[in-house]
Amino acid sequence: MAYDGRLLARARNELDKIRGENQAEQQRRRALAYARLPELERIDGSLRSHMTELVRLTISRRPDIKEQIDDLKERNLDMQMRRAELLTQAGFGPDYLDEIYSCPLCRDTGLYEGGVCSCLDRLYNRELTKELGTLMRRGDESFESFDLNLYPREADPVKHVVPRETMALTYAACRRFAENFSPASPNLLLQGGTGLGKTYLSACIARVVADKGFSVCYESAATALDYFEAAKFSRDTEEGEAAAVRTRRMQDCDLMILDDLGTEMVTPMSQSALYTLINTRLVRGKKTIISTNLTDEQLQKKYTPQICSRIAGEFTALPFVGRDIRRIKKGV
Ligand SMILES: Nc1ncnc2c1ncn2[C@@H]1O[C@H](COP(=O)(O)OP(=O)(O)OP(=O)(O)O)[C@@H](O)[C@H]1O
Ligand SMILES: [Mg+2]
Repeated sequence: MAYDGRLLARARNELDKIRGENQAEQQRRRALAYARLPELERIDGSLRSHMTELVRLTISRRPDIKEQIDDLKERNLDMQMRRAELLTQAGFGPDYLDEIYSCPLCRDTGLYEGGVCSCLDRLYNRELTKELGTLMRRGDESFESFDLNLYPREADPVKHVVPRETMALTYAACRRFAENFSPASPNLLLQGGTGLGKTYLSACIARVVADKGFSVCYESAATALDYFEAAKFSRDTEEGEAAAVRTRRMQDCDLMILDDLGTEMVTPMSQSALYTLINTRLVRGKKTIISTNLTDEQLQKKYTPQICSRIAGEFTALPFVGRDIRRIKKGV
């Protein structure tokens, strides 16, 4: 996965903070134990001086070097045993003064097996999620506060479905998707008229999935596709570089929410960017949620067969029906 340097730096700072807290705790424990057990402090001092002695012996050319090292090892062992005994007797436990790590894999260094450790990856995803800004700033959208009563109980005269029943199923599918999010999850197409809760349910999903530690990106289709254009045409500028970072992030994240597809200006460039985004994510097995006001027919008219084929074949469509909730809330 390609990392955004700025976010990775922030994640590293978080890890430094964790390491600092662990070191402070270690120091607190040491001070406490030394205050209670002065002999322990003397032993630790001796153990440190043994290390220096060992180095000195190793580089010396004394004829009895082996005996000297064996003797040092024996004294060391005795001291270690006495140290454990002292700690246990004082009720601290023998490993009380051992180094403290939050991550046993990388010992809080962030590096594991030549790559980024999963703990740093989680911190990175948390930083990424903080950038969900526009979506999360909207309010406190959550599955718990989703109001099904806003959808009519009477059958829709055109679509011949009962909006509340359809939306109960759509809601359940979104909730299931969020709670069971994994590489085996489907891609979702949230499809229906304006003001019916597509962005609302996307925010609910984003919150739950991000809380699980997955990286989530949210952009309106217009903004997302603009980034591709800026990344291509302003390559050597600061703006172009920032846009390139965004496009990489949109292609890499575990869950991408592409909102309001169809509201952007459709150009050959935007078609190509949309194809790249959808296709790259499909190839990488990363999950995408697209929301749109467009019907299948309108999608087909607007986008290339390559894009439509992928949306029709690789996305599970969830219908949104009812009356515009913005109007209902305003009493019109
Ligand atoms: N089920 C719901 N319970 C409570 N509030 C809701 C619900 N669904 C939508 N809303 C509110 O109704 C308004 C419109 O919803 P939202 O923005 O999600 O619609 P949309 O389907 O994304 O519309 P558009 O296609 O115009 O983008 C928002 O203020 C949202 O908070
Ligand atoms: Mg919306």
